Amino acid sequence: MMKYSLVVNGEPRAVDVPERMPLLWVLRDVLDLKGTKFGCGVAQCGACTVLIDGQPMRSCIVDISSVGTAAVTTIESLPRDGSHPLQRAWMELDVPQCGYCQAGQLMAASALLKETPNPTDAQIDAAMEGNFCRCGTYIRIKQAIKAAAAAGRRAE
Ligand code: FES
Ligand code: FES
Repeated sequence: MMKYSLVVNGEPRAVDVPERMPLLWVLRDVLDLKGTKFGCGVAQCGACTVLIDGQPMRSCIVDISSVGTAAVTTIESLPRDGSHPLQRAWMELDVPQCGYCQAGQLMAASALLKETPNPTDAQIDAAMEGNFCRCGTYIRIKQAIKAAAAAGRRAE
């Protein structure tokens, strides 16, 4: 076991875990942040997407030893009252079905809108292509990203 100091959702967190433990396990099993989901475990589905220094990463294949002082951002960072433009759009358009993939979808979408506040269809497709949804909510996800982008423009 090794001690690691992390910054998760802006808070310093210390964990005592094996160096090869995936970040996803640390988040869910050690820090009890269960919003991030385990899907495939091999970087193929996107269910486990979190942001590491603002970049969407598959936490199932990121060893804890490689995280260092990078900022880890999980779905729990979004406001509990659902006031983030993406959360609002997700609710207004009734995006989720079973919901399993949606934390990863939202994290990928939030990274996209931070870098590209007014994305084209092609940019949305490129940013979201690694996040799979077994329920097939892709069309509504895209509509919701566009609605959140429009809300951001109106707020400017
Ligand atoms: S669980 Fe990590 S990409 Fe599927
Ligand atoms: S909402 Fe069910 S997997 Fe995406």
